[in-house]
Amino acid sequence: MDIRQKIDKLKQQIRHHDYLYYVVAQPEVSDSEYDKLMKELEELESKNSELITDDSPTQRVSGQVIKDFKTVKHSTPMLSLDNTYSSEEIIEWYKRLEKIIPSESFEYVIEPKIDGVSCALTYKNGILSLGATRGDGENGEDVTLNIRTIKSIPLKLHSEIPLFEVRGEVYIEKKDFQELNKRITPPFANPRNAAAGSLRQKNPEIVSERKLKFIVHSYGSIGGIKDFKTHIEFLKFCEKNGLPTTMKNLNVVKKINDVVDKCKEWEDEREQMLYEIDGLVIKVNLLDQQKKLGFTMKSPRWAIAYKFAAKQATTKVKDIVIQVGRTGILTPVAKLEPVECGGVTISSATLHNFDEIKRLGVKIGDTVLIERAGEVIPKVVKVVESKRTGIEKKLEMPEKCPVCHKPIIKEKEEEVAWRCVNPLCPAQLEGGLIHFGSRECMDIEGLGESVVTQIVSQKMVSDFADIYYLKKEDFFKLELFKDKKTQNLIGAIEKSKTRQLSHLLFGLGIRNVGEKAAITLAKKFLTIDNLMNATVDDLQKIYEIGPIMAESIVKFFNQTETKKLIEKLKIAGVNMKEEVKKVPQVLEGKTFVFTGELKSLSRTDAETKVRELGGNATSSVSKKTDFVVVGENPGSKYNEAKRLGIRIIGEEEFLDMIKRH
Ligand code: IVH
Repeated sequence: MDIRQKIDKLKQQIRHHDYLYYVVAQPEVSDSEYDKLMKELEELESKNSELITDDSPTQRVSGQVIKDFKTVKHSTPMLSLDNTYSSEEIIEWYKRLEKIIPSESFEYVIEPKIDGVSCALTYKNGILSLGATRGDGENGEDVTLNIRTIKSIPLKLHSEIPLFEVRGEVYIEKKDFQELNKRITPPFANPRNAAAGSLRQKNPEIVSERKLKFIVHSYGSIGGIKDFKTHIEFLKFCEKNGLPTTMKNLNVVKKINDVVDKCKEWEDEREQMLYEIDGLVIKVNLLDQQKKLGFTMKSPRWAIAYKFAAKQATTKVKDIVIQVGRTGILTPVAKLEPVECGGVTISSATLHNFDEIKRLGVKIGDTVLIERAGEVIPKVVKVVESKRTGIEKKLEMPEKCPVCHKPIIKEKEEEVAWRCVNPLCPAQLEGGLIHFGSRECMDIEGLGESVVTQIVSQKMVSDFADIYYLKKEDFFKLELFKDKKTQNLIGAIEKSKTRQLSHLLFGLGIRNVGEKAAITLAKKFLTIDNLMNATVDDLQKIYEIGPIMAESIVKFFNQTETKKLIEKLKIAGVNMKEEVKKVPQVLEGKTFVFTGELKSLSRTDAETKVRELGGNATSSVSKKTDFVVVGENPGSKYNEAKRLGIRIIGEEEFLDMIKRH
């Protein structure tokens, strides 16, 4: 097998495993086996950069920051759906169908209505070429670089169909939404906002960390294959091509009364879904009938949305308590008289922050309208002012942290969040330790929430490092901890000492440093000492690290508590190094600018390559530029390079420079 064949085979294998993992959620290989394939492909590609193609699984995340999202015109308008809220309205819809096509029977497809962001993906000859948001329906925004990072979206289809434009929803699963909201401030109000906000992120690197997903529900332009007969046939074709659809969650029925029954069944089932759904979409299955039924100005006549009743309820605020999270943020929470809302009993609702309390004007004793957005903690929507009796009490704005009683601050005037910045605050310690032991960090099995809560409340630890100094006898104080359980946890803690530096860095909970950034830092600095000695300037030289992150890293490592913590971890024997395969930094210190179209690789790939080899790639020519690489049809940068006397090289020469690495 030659190298090209080897690369193709690896790509195919990885694509297959991506499909099994991200689309059908039934992986066949372990994470480490998958990583091995990915590493193998990366290695082969880095030695043969001319063989890197845009559809390679290694090329999902572009190192490029998006300046502006370009406007793109949709091939056909992206319409919306008419809404119905009752069985009667569904029957009325059916009567309208019957009127247009009398004496024919219909078959209906009932699909979940995914509460996400509508997007159109265009595949040309089987390769993903465009991802666009719906926008106003006529024109959307080109979000291709962000769409490419979504792992359930294939970069290449199984068939090389000339033109295939699918439409669907980009969304985030409920658990990933909650996870995301723990990491960012301010949090997103609901999963839909999280998906929309993420898609408009200018840094695809950040988008790739957001665990967005995609589901196809319809199509735009299709060319070069024979027509589908039914909607189901279209979905099956998508599935065959590795595109995720609603196939496993849909119903096909022949009678309108069955549609009504299914809609009722779904009211209960909606909670089981991994993602938020705000209703169902009922579609006529036969595409011939769809054509006959056509469209109104706004929506197709052949489909209708059945919206679930809003999950709202009214109840009384018994108290407002203030919770302190892992990052020290104070969150006011309304304690409620228990009330049933969308099938669950609710006894507390988030008020997000103190500005929100002001906006709502909510007081203790108020009657409020609450709403549940999925499995997320319910929120207070508004105060029912007519129910006021005059004895309601305003919440006193705290001056101190309710847990450690140290002063609280607002880091910037424009921020809404108040924080406790005492690194020894037990509330932060508890949340922080749960994070420290989590799978993505030090991966300490058995150090879950309940164990950490007990360890912290019994004052067995005062920082993360203390867990490495706990003895067998200490664990015996915990609920249900006997010999076996203790031995297992001690073993897991011991094993965690060997984790790579990137895991430790993520686990330390440095403000603004997510998992990806931790990996970048670890790979760049290799040891914690190197990182601790880095200045804001050093850090900012790294492409993915911006000024805010650089500042917070330096600030973190300058704190006496951090220095003590790292020392204690070192003495306990925790690994402080990252082992990486070293790519020779042959382009160190050299700045490249690309202009015009390259033949053998995309500009993004070329820039990534430069950065991997230690160089810098920028978008505009200046005196600091060392090389301007000129492809076909170069732009004004070419003239600028000539004017400044910068060295101009062609694609061949550039490939020569990077070839052996
Ligand atoms: S079919 C003409 N199917 O809901 C549009 N749409 O409120 C045909 N949506 O803009 C779309 N789940 O983005 C369809 N299973 C589903 C859907 C779905 C969510 C979105 C879609 C549409 C919006 C209308």
